[in-house]
Amino acid sequence: MKKLIIAIDGPAGAGKSTVAQILAHRLHYNYIDTGAMYRGITWKAMKSNVIGNTTAIERIVQNIDIKLTYINGKTTVLIDGSDVTAEIRTPEVSRMVSEVAQVQTVREVMLQLQREMAVHGGVVMDGRDIGTHVLPNADIKIFLTASIKERAERRWRELTEKGFEVKLEELEEEIATRDKNDCEREFAPLVQASDAILIDTTFLSIEEAVEEITKICEERYSLV
Ligand code: DC
Repeated sequence: MKKLIIAIDGPAGAGKSTVAQILAHRLHYNYIDTGAMYRGITWKAMKSNVIGNTTAIERIVQNIDIKLTYINGKTTVLIDGSDVTAEIRTPEVSRMVSEVAQVQTVREVMLQLQREMAVHGGVVMDGRDIGTHVLPNADIKIFLTASIKERAERRWRELTEKGFEVKLEELEEEIATRDKNDCEREFAPLVQASDAILIDTTFLSIEEAVEEITKICEERYSLV
């Protein structure tokens, strides 16, 4: 049976990674969280104190060893051999990541790596530019979105559960800024691919969103 390439793009907090992981698990596919890759580079740039220094960030990305594993429905991120899965999700990394993700060399190196990761098919890859740049020939492209208010509330719940003290209004502002940076950047901006299917999750549960995508897979490829 053909092993599909499924691209899921959309803004922060639209539910991409949760939806993509459940879908990958259902289909016995690999899940590739490209946001985690940009977060990993950002984590290293912050640790090396080079935020704002494009040349130093370029040097980092050219020498970094990024490994993503997806085992039993759980993604682990290794940077130069260290497990940074938790560290890359801190509010500090979230604040800096869209700046690092704008650097052209960072995007070029990630593009190559992400294409290699998808070369055998059987993948669900999520991000911002997967359907438009990384995998323009993906079999199924989904653009997942939700209102800023709903996305901020989801992030607030997620961070509060992890013990971070964050204000909802600040998260709303931060998400709006990140959207703006991601949508307006020069290289590979966040934009819905012309052949992507739009799913608005503002009033949908995760399960309902997964169900919609599953239906699309069924209709097109009798997969599930
Ligand atoms: O999905 P996320 O919030 O973990 O993504 C973190 C950041 O990485 C986000 O601000 C945009 C950037 N990103 C990107 O530019 N391109 C991708 N394919 C994935 C993420």
